[in-house]
Amino acid sequence: MVLTTTAAALLCLSACVSTSLAAAHAQNSTYYNPILPGFHPDPSCIFVPERDSTFFCASSSFNAFPGIPIHASKDLQSWKLIGHVLNRREQLPRLAETNRSTRHVGIWAPTLRFHDGDFWLVTTLVDDDRPQTDFSRWDNIIFKGKDPFNQGSWSNAIHFNFTGYDTEPFWDVDGKVYITGAHAWQVAPAIQQAEVDLETGKVSEWQNIWNGTGGMAPEGPHIFRKDGFYYLLAAEGGTGLDHRVTMSRSKNINGPFESNPANPVLTNANTTSYFQTIGHADLFKDGDGNWWGVALSTRSGPDYINYPMGRETVMTPVSWPEDKWPVFSQVSGKMSGWPMPPRASSQDLHGVGPFITEGDQVDFPPNSSLPAHFTHWRFPAPEAFTVSPASNPHTLRISPSALNLTALNGNYAGPGGQSFVGRRQQDTLFTYRVDLDFSPSALEEEAGVSAFLTQNHHLDMGIVLLPASASTAAFPGAKQVTTTPTDPSALIPHVRFRGISYVAVPPPVVASLPPAWANRTLTLEIRASNASHFAFSVWPAAARSEAQTVIVASNAPVSWGFTGVLLGVYCTSNGHNGTTPAYVSKWRYTGDEQFRD
Ligand SMILES: *[C@@H]1O[C@H](CO)[C@@H](O)[C@H](O)[C@H]1NC(C)=O
Ligand SMILES: *[C@@H]1O[C@H](CO)[C@@H](O)[C@H](O)[C@H]1NC(C)=O
Ligand SMILES: *[C@@H]1O[C@H](CO)[C@@H](O)[C@H](O)[C@H]1NC(C)=O
Ligand SMILES: *[C@@H]1O[C@H](CO)[C@@H](O)[C@H](O)[C@H]1NC(C)=O
Ligand SMILES: *[C@@H]1O[C@H](CO)[C@@H](O)[C@H](O)[C@H]1NC(C)=O
Ligand SMILES: *[C@@H]1O[C@H](CO)[C@@H](O)[C@H](O)[C@H]1NC(C)=O
Ligand SMILES: *[C@@H]1O[C@H](CO)[C@@H](O)[C@H](O)[C@H]1NC(C)=O
Ligand SMILES: *[C@@H]1O[C@H](CO)[C@@H](O)[C@H](O)[C@H]1NC(C)=O
Ligand SMILES: *[C@@H]1O[C@H](CO)[C@@H](O)[C@H](O)[C@H]1NC(C)=O
Ligand SMILES: *[C@@H]1O[C@H](CO)[C@@H](O)[C@H](O)[C@H]1NC(C)=O
Repeated sequence: MVLTTTAAALLCLSACVSTSLAAAHAQNSTYYNPILPGFHPDPSCIFVPERDSTFFCASSSFNAFPGIPIHASKDLQSWKLIGHVLNRREQLPRLAETNRSTRHVGIWAPTLRFHDGDFWLVTTLVDDDRPQTDFSRWDNIIFKGKDPFNQGSWSNAIHFNFTGYDTEPFWDVDGKVYITGAHAWQVAPAIQQAEVDLETGKVSEWQNIWNGTGGMAPEGPHIFRKDGFYYLLAAEGGTGLDHRVTMSRSKNINGPFESNPANPVLTNANTTSYFQTIGHADLFKDGDGNWWGVALSTRSGPDYINYPMGRETVMTPVSWPEDKWPVFSQVSGKMSGWPMPPRASSQDLHGVGPFITEGDQVDFPPNSSLPAHFTHWRFPAPEAFTVSPASNPHTLRISPSALNLTALNGNYAGPGGQSFVGRRQQDTLFTYRVDLDFSPSALEEEAGVSAFLTQNHHLDMGIVLLPASASTAAFPGAKQVTTTPTDPSALIPHVRFRGISYVAVPPPVVASLPPAWANRTLTLEIRASNASHFAFSVWPAAARSEAQTVIVASNAPVSWGFTGVLLGVYCTSNGHNGTTPAYVSKWRYTGDEQFRD
């Protein structure tokens, strides 16, 4: 009797607790897109009950290093950077050699999955130098990890052969493991599949399983088994304004796959929405059994001209009744969706990086290392970056690379690399600012700040040593002192703005530094004054009142392609012999406003 009573009490207790927990968050949620603002394309997200009921999302990183960021959340609202899958050179040495930044080289769409106690990340390192038909152009790779909170636990890349991209693993109920991928679209566009040994990369013959619904480049496949069907989620139409998500299903993993009559299941093509290019989705089920979709999107409106943050991660609720096709909600800035776990549950997330909404206040204290969200372009040269050197504590010393941010016409920069480190632009309006100590002594030595998208798309404002004759502009507001050198060949420090892009950029601005500013700590700032323009300004750190806006430039030149803007600092000798390092301090990034419509 006593036992029965206790059992009944326990039953009641667990039932009552789960009822009241459900009641505590039974209200549909209101949340905001993008969930991961800034350069976070091609999202792949999972929910892992076995790891403290945590959500994890991976995104593409192209040539950025560390690469393949992982964000985690417990509540679907606060997302924290917890590490990068690609965090050590030896995991994938070939990232150093991707050539032709003119195209879209580097790490393309990853798929993140959890299976039987292990995390798996499957992706492709693309090298445009090789022909489309050559599998060596598509370096398909598998990373295995025990714990994404400990980024050192990710394995080195395991390679497999596939002439395509957007590869993902799928574990069938019979124990067989498959890789699904997008066959190189300029060759024979199709979703293909093979059996795989994930530990070795050995693959069987590739089979076409679906050709999509006729849109360009069927890609981004993800397979889900539900109610006896294999559902195949894909993207079509290319990653621009015509991007869309489509679905098909089959009772058999090998097909034939029947197309959903309601396709496309998710798109903002041909709408006036601020959120465009929606596609490349993934699906996951939360702890309450509700489905969510994530996808990439560009906050550009249909004009598609000013979108420096590139392709970002958005989330949308999905209803997926038994035996039926899933229905996605339209993506917008303010969303209503399934109930979410209580907001506070993310606060105990540990992990090396910041929450996505945090700004920067980085002072490079002694014995610290670069923050986890600081990003280079390919691997940094060893010794190029020193945090708080003994001679200049509380600074970041950057030794110059011979090649600048363009390097050789946008191609591989060689082992010397490019001395650049940045962080993602994550807010429509922001203020990014550093202090710079830099005393160039050789021609073309330069250090400054950049809004960097690719090697062929960046807007830079630097301090550079040039002949006095190079000046094309003066600072009207600055106190000009009469002792300005008159010898036109004398090398004097200048402020130089210049940009490069496939889109028209304003001509360079080259202004000699006011002599009174020489060898003083200068503050360099990039500020998004509105959604379409960046203002580049400079002033002596100790004299804000002397601030000069060098240019207010459209951000259209850094709105292009597959990546998103990194705001950062660089130091280069521009192909000359200079070796003078730059000392960066007081690194600040503040999100000022997020536009959602
Ligand atoms: C990179 O590509 C350019 C242009 O095709 C070529 O000239 C150069 O040799 C390539 N560099 C490497 C390291 O492969
Ligand atoms: C990929 O194909 C090449 C050429 O056929 C072969 O040498 C290599 O061993 C293959 N790699 C794997 C992982 O199967
Ligand atoms: C896809 O299209 C090709 C022709 O381009 C055709 O040979 C193939 O059978 C199609 N595959 C499927 C699964 O429909
Ligand atoms: C958008 O409209 C164009 C022109 O009518 C059409 O070709 C295209 O398929 C539409 N895109 C989507 C995703 O519906
Ligand atoms: C809650 O959100 C889901 C997913 O968007 C939707 O299907 C459902 O109708 C919503 N419920 C209410 C009561 O609004
Ligand atoms: C930095 O580390 C060194 C060596 O571990 C130590 O001697 C020194 O006291 C540390 N300095 C600070 C400011 O923590
Ligand atoms: C600034 O520093 C450089 C290098 O140390 C030196 O050559 C130059 O004379 C200094 N300029 C002024 C105005 O102090
Ligand atoms: C944004 O700022 C630029 C430069 O000041 C200005 O030309 C443009 O009209 C502004 N755009 C809007 C929408 O206010
Ligand atoms: C980059 O450096 C090259 C020389 O290596 C030079 O020709 C080019 O003008 C520079 N461009 C930029 C935008 O820095
Ligand atoms: C680099 O220095 C060497 C030796 O002083 C000189 O011959 C060469 O012209 C310099 N190169 C450049 C690009 O300044």
